[in-house]
Amino acid sequence: MKKYVIAAGVITLAFLAACNNNKKVTSSTTQVIKDTIEKDIHTLSNADSIKVTHLDLDIQVSFDKKQISGSATWTISNTNKLGELRLDTYDLTIDSVLVDGQPTNYRKDAQIPNLGSALHIPITADATLVRIVYKTGANARALQWLDPQQTLSRQHPFLYTQSESIYARSWIPCPDGPALRYTYNARVTVPKGLMALMSAENPQQVSDSGIYHFKMEIPVPAYLMALAVGDIAFRSIDQRTGVYAEQGMIDKARYEFEDVGKMVSAAEKLYGPYRWGRYDVLVLPPGFPIGGMENPRLTFCTPTVIAGDRSLVSLIAHELAHSWSGNLVTNATWDDFWLNEGFTVYFERRIMESMYGKSYSDMLWELGYQDLVTEVDGLGKESKDTWLKLDLKDRDPDAGLTDIPYEKGAHFLKLIETNVGRDTFDAFLNKYFNDHAFSTVNTEQFVRYLNANLIKDNSTLEENIGIKQWVYGPGIPANCPRTYPERFKKVDAERMRFTNGTPAAQIDTTGWTTNEWLQFLRGMPKPMVVQQMQQLDDAFHFTQSGNSEIADLWYIMAVTADYQPAYPAIDLFLSTVGRRKFLEPLYSAMIKTGKAAMAKTMYKKYRQNYHPLAQESLDKIIK
Ligand code: BES
Ligand code: ZN
Repeated sequence: MKKYVIAAGVITLAFLAACNNNKKVTSSTTQVIKDTIEKDIHTLSNADSIKVTHLDLDIQVSFDKKQISGSATWTISNTNKLGELRLDTYDLTIDSVLVDGQPTNYRKDAQIPNLGSALHIPITADATLVRIVYKTGANARALQWLDPQQTLSRQHPFLYTQSESIYARSWIPCPDGPALRYTYNARVTVPKGLMALMSAENPQQVSDSGIYHFKMEIPVPAYLMALAVGDIAFRSIDQRTGVYAEQGMIDKARYEFEDVGKMVSAAEKLYGPYRWGRYDVLVLPPGFPIGGMENPRLTFCTPTVIAGDRSLVSLIAHELAHSWSGNLVTNATWDDFWLNEGFTVYFERRIMESMYGKSYSDMLWELGYQDLVTEVDGLGKESKDTWLKLDLKDRDPDAGLTDIPYEKGAHFLKLIETNVGRDTFDAFLNKYFNDHAFSTVNTEQFVRYLNANLIKDNSTLEENIGIKQWVYGPGIPANCPRTYPERFKKVDAERMRFTNGTPAAQIDTTGWTTNEWLQFLRGMPKPMVVQQMQQLDDAFHFTQSGNSEIADLWYIMAVTADYQPAYPAIDLFLSTVGRRKFLEPLYSAMIKTGKAAMAKTMYKKYRQNYHPLAQESLDKIIK
């Protein structure tokens, strides 16, 4: 195994040397790429050698103690006759471990940064049931416990999890690697009156007893384990789709997600049947640290997509697309993260194109390209972090959460599509999803599959694409496809009129969607003069925008220009919104423009409103 890894390394180096000399990559180099069966360096579990097939979870949720406690019972099949099972844990207290009902002498290692502690459980060759009685700690990275006043109703507490990438181990002792799949049943006890939901078959009504039963019959990896508990209501969209949210949000959410049923059908037309039964969306309280999370059967999403005009639903298209790219065919390790996210961004834009037309999806591609350019500039054009294949050794997988896997990945697939033609590429993707359904793929396997099924020794095609330069090379390759949306040309012209002195009120913004507004603002001079900010604000009321994407960008511009009329709104925004994508650039803008004191004051007030993972990344920016 080691030999293979080294061999691939040598090939990579040889390939890079070839790129540096501006030589074209030849087919002989692609053929020698070996299938490096890499170890997942972010799990301490040995479940890859012991079949861990099923989880029975029985937990109680205590809001008083801010603690989950109970038991996790794993069904195993020790075919290799190993002497111990190792599971991942993070800040968990283990009360006892029973193997087939017998107490056993388990041991927990000291904590390793990022990874947590391996739990060593002695097992016999014929052991089948391993039961761990445990409780979560105060530093559970996956959990956000909201006090009633942090919710809409201000009456009931709320709990939710965010397990991707390696945080499931902070609420369940588990084999926590994307390649380790299992089915699960859960019994979850919560305070009476609250609803509990998981990434599984879900209730649509509150249970009188406070006890809920869940079933996930399709094997899933631990990063897709999810739980939410709160004063949650349900509204149906169509036969197989619906929306959950806090009572006070449910009607707005139902309105916003009107098209979700049609979206599932549009996705199926592209890449085959939706295989998970129902598709529901849960809108979380504003502290949710990310935009969306593709928990199977139940996407978790931020309330910042509820713009009131359905203009940010591409986020749902994205999470839905993960039902194929990610949940059905999963990245083997977090170094292969682009196989989850790049494919999903590509798929998301195909869904958006089929529903809202090419003129719409072209704008998403262009905004994404701009994000990619900004990210590459930030990371450095030669940085290894701009390769599609990541190297996250000794780092938290969170470090790989940049626009590279998303946008460079998606643009790479678009490049292939452009070269082989859409019909051929779609047939290829359909086959790819079928051939790898419910299993994992690493980058090397994908490259081999691509060569075997699409490139097929066509050296012109291979030269035009340059697979290895994209996957194992830095920056944005020169052949990166670019879209020049017609709708943005008009926006650019209107912006030009404004910067040349036409009053803002005379700018023609008829029919603009969020995308046009983002393009309009992104292209403005930096920094703007305060009078121009004021003019734009008078005409378009950006400071009061209910659209989180526009508001966040405007607030960054306001901080940069020291446009003080926006500051109270910024304060309000930061007090409620917990989405890292918005918080990080906004706090960073304050620090970069000499307003560290402002950043510190606000962060001190609002830190407790943010999810532990957001706190971790913001602590680094602000301290
Ligand atoms: N799976 C990701 C979220 C994620 C990735 C969480 C890695 C933790 C670690 C999800 O599908 C995602 O990409 N969300 C994006 C939204 C999307 C429209 C790009 C987000 O949260 O911003
Ligand atoms: Zn995603």
